[in-house]
Amino acid sequence: MRSNLLVAVAIARLAVAAPAPAPQQFDFAAVLEAPSPSVTGPPLTVVANATSTFSVDTASIAASVSAEVTTVATASITGASASAASTEEPSSTGLEKRGWGSTSTTAKSSSSSSQKASTSSTVQSTVSSSSALPTTSSTSTTSQQSSTSTTSSQTACPTTPEAGTYCGFINPEDPCAPQPDGYGPKVTPDTVAAFEAYPEFHADALSAITPASYVQVFRDLNASTSANSYITYKDLTSYSVSDCANFCDTTDLCTAFNIYVERDPSINPTANGDASNSTGQYCPNPSSITNYKCSLWGSSIDATSATNFGDYRESFQVVIAASNGYDKTNTTTPATLPGYEQPSNCTGAISAGGSYCLGSRFFPGPYNPSVCGIYAQAQTATNKAAAKNNGAKAYVPSNMFNAYMVKVNSVAQGTYCSLFNTVLSDSWAAFEGGWSGQNFFGVESSWTYALSEQDSGKL
Ligand SMILES: *[C@@H]1O[C@H](CO)[C@@H](O)[C@H](O)[C@H]1NC(C)=O
Ligand SMILES: *[C@@H]1O[C@H](CO)[C@@H](O)[C@H](O)[C@H]1NC(C)=O
Ligand SMILES: *[C@@H]1O[C@H](CO)[C@@H](O)[C@H](O)[C@H]1NC(C)=O
Ligand SMILES: *[C@@H]1O[C@H](CO)[C@@H](O)[C@H](O)[C@H]1NC(C)=O
Ligand SMILES: *[C@@H]1O[C@H](CO)[C@@H](O)[C@H](O)[C@H]1NC(C)=O
Repeated sequence: MRSNLLVAVAIARLAVAAPAPAPQQFDFAAVLEAPSPSVTGPPLTVVANATSTFSVDTASIAASVSAEVTTVATASITGASASAASTEEPSSTGLEKRGWGSTSTTAKSSSSSSQKASTSSTVQSTVSSSSALPTTSSTSTTSQQSSTSTTSSQTACPTTPEAGTYCGFINPEDPCAPQPDGYGPKVTPDTVAAFEAYPEFHADALSAITPASYVQVFRDLNASTSANSYITYKDLTSYSVSDCANFCDTTDLCTAFNIYVERDPSINPTANGDASNSTGQYCPNPSSITNYKCSLWGSSIDATSATNFGDYRESFQVVIAASNGYDKTNTTTPATLPGYEQPSNCTGAISAGGSYCLGSRFFPGPYNPSVCGIYAQAQTATNKAAAKNNGAKAYVPSNMFNAYMVKVNSVAQGTYCSLFNTVLSDSWAAFEGGWSGQNFFGVESSWTYALSEQDSGKL
């Protein structure tokens, strides 16, 4: 793997626009070696524990970044020379730093405290699955799940509820327990073949109207999307593309969605004991129900990432039909971060800003520039503290970062962040991807964020 990478990096260097003034900085290994998020798509099983439905937890990322950033990062051109980079060109083609005169750096009201607040304001709370419990609304689910007592002294409960639940609670994870939702038609005969051929599903997929601001990227596939950029999902009561679009539009980081029909078991398939066992724990292949699912993505999606064809749960076969994908990544401007100017759109990534670069990091998950902001802030703070410690008069600040989505063979991987000690123009962003062995690394949604008030790095 290692030697492959080295060869690949060499090839990528050649692929980058010559003359290359600084070494190629894109770190293929950082992307390849990063662990995938624990959840890369909606679960096939229904879970009682709402926290199992993954959502972006920016706060914990912030904590881990701050914990990881222990070394002082530096850039080879610093201080006054870095500031003078406003006229520096990345190559001989007459490029300019972004229009960033001293006039535009006049104080905004942003303070470092408001910047801190940005970190927590972008935390998206865990979205609980509305499908987790069959008989209650999601709000009551939350309050009931948070109670720790197992019984109520007021009303007698005929059975002892499970710890952490309430009287009448049926855990869908229990053996042969009823599964929630199932708003779609009951397919007869109840077979996988009949489900896959069911005309209504294909008609739904093929006649769906693309919502304004989205582009349809695939339709009527028998697989759902699976990728690191997974945000969350919910069950719908019908094949409503507009409901799924609304869910995406109101969810942080969402720029694409996948709507599909899933053949699910009516009760939790279980094969404890055997058919003659009277404990009621034998139901390996129950009758099916039909769920309409809507999953959200923080990257563009396409047919390449529709790789989840279902699976077996005991003898029950989960299959997918009518899978449509919709995307608005190309027309989405990521959120502005407090303390930063409006993000600036780039054609590619900045991989040649070596002399001004403090370092880079890769974060698997949806495209999320706020993660880079947290990293930038942590790096500046680390550098500042070290400089103070050493009695130095200056430190290297992170004045701008470049945040982009990395795709491997067109499947989303996560956000790549590069920090710079000065503001570089979009013309530095020339890296549009490269090969590593058999894998093509692509760049998507490349945006730069510059601090509204540039940090002089003076102590
Ligand atoms: C819910 O799931 C999370 C993550 O898998 C786990 O840490 C937690 O203990 C679970 N809570 C309950 C009540 O099972
Ligand atoms: C999905 O559809 C493709 C193309 O129509 C087919 O080749 C494949 O066998 C199907 N997969 C499943 C799991 O049904
Ligand atoms: C019935 O199934 C339960 C759970 O698997 C098992 O503990 C029990 O021994 C079985 N009883 C018989 C008679 O098979
Ligand atoms: C988004 O833009 C890229 C690059 O211009 C293009 O290849 C891709 O097809 C576009 N995607 C959509 C869904 O329009
Ligand atoms: C940003 O730039 C890319 C590449 O030039 C382009 O495809 C995309 O549409 C732009 N995005 C926005 C929101 O303008």
